[in-house]
Amino acid sequence: MNQYPHLQSRIDTFLSYFLDQQKKDLSESNRLQDAIRYALLAGGKRIRPLLVYATADSLSIHIDKADYPAAAIEMIHAYSLIHDDLPAMDNDDLRRGQPTCHIEYDEATAILAGDALQAMAFNVLSQTPTEATKVVKLLNNLANACGLHGMAGGQSLDLQAENKTINLDQLEAIHSAKTGALLVACVTMITTLCDDLDSRQIQAYAQFAHHFGIAFQIVDDILDVIGDTEQLGKRAGSDQHRHKSTYPSLLGLEQAQKKARHHIDTAKQFLLETNIDNQSLLTLTDFILNRSH
Ligand code: IPE
Ligand code: IPE
Ligand code: MG
Ligand code: MG
Ligand code: MG
Repeated sequence: MNQYPHLQSRIDTFLSYFLDQQKKDLSESNRLQDAIRYALLAGGKRIRPLLVYATADSLSIHIDKADYPAAAIEMIHAYSLIHDDLPAMDNDDLRRGQPTCHIEYDEATAILAGDALQAMAFNVLSQTPTEATKVVKLLNNLANACGLHGMAGGQSLDLQAENKTINLDQLEAIHSAKTGALLVACVTMITTLCDDLDSRQIQAYAQFAHHFGIAFQIVDDILDVIGDTEQLGKRAGSDQHRHKSTYPSLLGLEQAQKKARHHIDTAKQFLLETNIDNQSLLTLTDFILNRSH
């Protein structure tokens, strides 16, 4: 994502600083800590932090404040990927162009790295420099996004849908939960920090993010079919290999692409309804449709 190097390096610096802070009571060499650093800091497009920052930009929330939700969500995302790659889940050996966490370390360490990252996410979020009532709302927001009815719940449905034919509504519900929920939280955590929005605008931002999230996962599914392993940094064809329920498997490639475009257009429509200048968000929305990895 070449147009965002400044923000990508900003979040990398913030994450690295936070990890170093956690280190102070530990011995120099710590296997779990090394595994966390390996999974969290080795690349990644940083789409979720970029979505947090773009929303903050639209709503004039200071970027120093946005760093905390941005870091928290990226930690949850990193944890979700570590667990997603485990043999009990998607059983993948390549992530961001390098061996997955459980291959580089071992399964137990990978499970624990995910567990620790989840706790760390709530730790960093709890330090957001804002009023205590807003911090509580942020924590609640993130907890809902990653739990039973969010990412974890969606991941469970995704696994249950392997080797099955499900309908489009069911597939949309899976994508909305496993991937959409965290992307929605990127936006709603920032609307929570903003005092100037009415309920209609808050809803419009949430709806924007909902459609952004579904489109993001549809494009991920499409790239699994049309991308190559080197470009993706993860094994192309992994979904077909696992007999996953995806948009291309259910609808075919062309209809899946059409669906992705539809959700992108709908997302942009909701942005218009906010009556706020959302240029950063519009640019990011176009980017996720046209990305190559
Ligand atoms: C991959 O997410 C998993 C999904 C939820 C689709 P990303 O495509 O954001 O992965 P990284 O962080 O850039 O590696
Ligand atoms: C992952 O979806 C969604 C998560 C919550 C991690 P995928 O299983 O399609 O992600 P990739 O393709 O392995 O990155
Ligand atoms: Mg998966
Ligand atoms: Mg996977
Ligand atoms: Mg995928």
